[in-house]
Amino acid sequence: MRHLLRVGDLHRQDLDYLLDRAEHFKHHPTAARKLLKGRTVLLYFAKPSTRTRISTETAVVRLGGVPLTVGSGELQLGRGETIGDTARVVSSYAAAVVIRTYRDADVEAFARSPEVPVVNALTDGHHPMQAITDLMTIREHFGDLRGRKIAYVGAANNVATSLTQAATLAGMTVAVATPPACAPAGMVTTADPFEAVKEADVVYTDVWMSMGDPEEERAARTAALEPYRVTPELMAAAAPHAVFMHCLPAHRGEEVTAEVMDGPASVVFRQAANRLPVAQAVLEALLTGKLAGSI
Ligand code: CP
Ligand code: NVA
Repeated sequence: MRHLLRVGDLHRQDLDYLLDRAEHFKHHPTAARKLLKGRTVLLYFAKPSTRTRISTETAVVRLGGVPLTVGSGELQLGRGETIGDTARVVSSYAAAVVIRTYRDADVEAFARSPEVPVVNALTDGHHPMQAITDLMTIREHFGDLRGRKIAYVGAANNVATSLTQAATLAGMTVAVATPPACAPAGMVTTADPFEAVKEADVVYTDVWMSMGDPEEERAARTAALEPYRVTPELMAAAAPHAVFMHCLPAHRGEEVTAEVMDGPASVVFRQAANRLPVAQAVLEALLTGKLAGSI
């Protein structure tokens, strides 16, 4: 497997491998500090980022390389050079390419030609590095994954998709509560957030408006999602030991109340911190050919 574009492309053993390596990097940050010596990794961001950008840049440095981060408008892509030509050229310089953009098809097109690994750092459809981090955080907290229940409550988006795929791969139970009108095809959902969180070990949410979602949908979407806010009452309906998770950035008072976000059940900042060892693990695994998955 050369690229990480979707969690769905990973095999079960790939996920276990990445979680083990991420845990190792968390305790030994400079393990593999020569892997990228004298090499660069290109990070392309067509959408804003705090966690993904800073953790991945830091991961590259910890692996001995130099991160080169560019925004949209800085490459010739914006002036009509094709994705395929850009990918071929860039892969003759950089050891890996990390891409955050809109269309999944664009990342797939980018990944078609290069000999170097391509990592999806969030698209409209997927957020694989986040989902691997989420599982790492759950495993760290509970000591295991298999048989645990995760309830995702809110907008059924890129984060929900990757989280569902990762949790399923790990043998967890997933319940997604989202307004029926927003439920994407293929995702098993319920309309009732209280039903979803019943006996859940993890209650997870994300912003109601993702980057790139049409602004004109904000009012209708916010109204539809109002009953899906994670409140202390909703947390009380989950298992007594349940933790609250959020990929961040969070909007207190929208998808989650400040009480829950900043309360004792919240593990969101540990979750955010885990992005760094996961970025190291993903880059290392791809660069050393350790993943068996399909692409
Ligand atoms: N969770 C996450 O991907 O955050 P950023 O958008 O800040 O990278
Ligand atoms: N679903 C959000 C996640 C941000 C990390 C978005 O795509 O904007």
